[in-house]
Amino acid sequence: MHCIVLAGLHLLLYREECVCNPVRYFVIMSMQRSGSGWFETLLNSHMNVSSNGEIMGPSDRRRNASSILETLDRVYNLDWFTSASKNECSAAVGFKWMLNQGVMKYHEDVVDYFKKNGVSTIFLFRKNALRRLVSLLANAYDKEAKPLNGTHKSHVHLPAEAEILAKYKPTINTTRLIPDLKLVERQTARAIEYFNTTRHMVLYYEDLVKNRTKLREVQDFLRLPYRELRSGQVKIHMSPLSEQVANWGDVLKVLKDTSYDKFFRSDYKM
Ligand SMILES: *[C@@H]1O[C@H](CO)[C@@H](O)[C@H](O)[C@H]1NC(C)=O
Ligand SMILES: *[C@@H]1O[C@H](CO)[C@@H](O)[C@H](O)[C@H]1NC(C)=O
Ligand SMILES: *[C@@H]1O[C@H](CO)[C@@H](O)[C@H](O)[C@H]1NC(C)=O
Ligand SMILES: *[C@@H]1O[C@H](CO)[C@@H](O)[C@H](O)[C@H]1NC(C)=O
Ligand SMILES: *[C@@H]1O[C@H](CO)[C@@H](O)[C@H](O)[C@H]1NC(C)=O
Ligand SMILES: *[C@@H]1O[C@H](CO)[C@@H](O)[C@H](O)[C@H]1NC(C)=O
Repeated sequence: MHCIVLAGLHLLLYREECVCNPVRYFVIMSMQRSGSGWFETLLNSHMNVSSNGEIMGPSDRRRNASSILETLDRVYNLDWFTSASKNECSAAVGFKWMLNQGVMKYHEDVVDYFKKNGVSTIFLFRKNALRRLVSLLANAYDKEAKPLNGTHKSHVHLPAEAEILAKYKPTINTTRLIPDLKLVERQTARAIEYFNTTRHMVLYYEDLVKNRTKLREVQDFLRLPYRELRSGQVKIHMSPLSEQVANWGDVLKVLKDTSYDKFFRSDYKM
């Protein structure tokens, strides 16, 4: 059988029905509580996408550059069988990689690997870092308190569950607030800079929430046949920020007249 191979695409010769369908390699690069779980369920609702979750989570898979490259090889040789693995007809194969899972530390090796093997990066960040912080604190609380019948849930599928989780209002440490927000800004900028010579696109959670047609751009980027994408996850924090933080007055005082006041000035309504 003769297949036409395009640059940057891959054929996996043991694939039966889809032996001539090229496979695109991707990675979703993100930070915890930035909507990447939701985004990944959207992608996986496409019959030709297999995104395998936080493959780099366990520390032994990213202890050094060689274990990272080995892990990447395993994902992209399709010998990683997770619930996201579909059939031999996957047209795009990838996983979700958090910035604190070795990718920043070993970025030079990873960039080389991405260029050599044609891996495309989808950055998914959250514009409103204050909302992300609320989500981080609430999720950390949920790990301890488990208000949903004693089960920790990072993501929920029922509005009633979202409502219970959103009842908890974290107190934000105002001493650390501005340094923490700055750190997130720096990490985001640095990640994009490190990978700026590889094929990539930058997505923001807020834009996806507001405008689902952004998903068309993502599918174009992965050169997938266009599909309506769906996720069963529901958003946990729906109210304005002022109603979700216990010490909102203090937070307001610290952020007022800084560049971070955009987080509550332009806070979105759901
Ligand atoms: C890299 O880490 C793995 C464990 O994850 C270890 O087996 C291996 O010896 C390490 N290699 C180097 C070069 O340090
Ligand atoms: C997507 O999957 C379907 C069903 O498995 C298959 O027939 C089709 O060729 C695949 N499309 C691509 C672009 O791989
Ligand atoms: C807890 O479990 C009970 C019984 O299974 C169920 O009816 C209820 O909806 C659950 N509550 C939550 C918050 O999940
Ligand atoms: C807030 O953060 C500062 C700096 O990390 C720390 O010293 C302080 O103990 C924290 N305050 C509370 C109430 O946790
Ligand atoms: C990538 O970032 C470096 C460092 O900021 C910069 O010098 C370079 O011009 C950038 N390259 C591209 C292609 O944007
Ligand atoms: C939604 O996103 C699409 C694709 O990026 C863009 O063309 C369109 O203008 C956007 N619509 C709105 C209302 O922002």
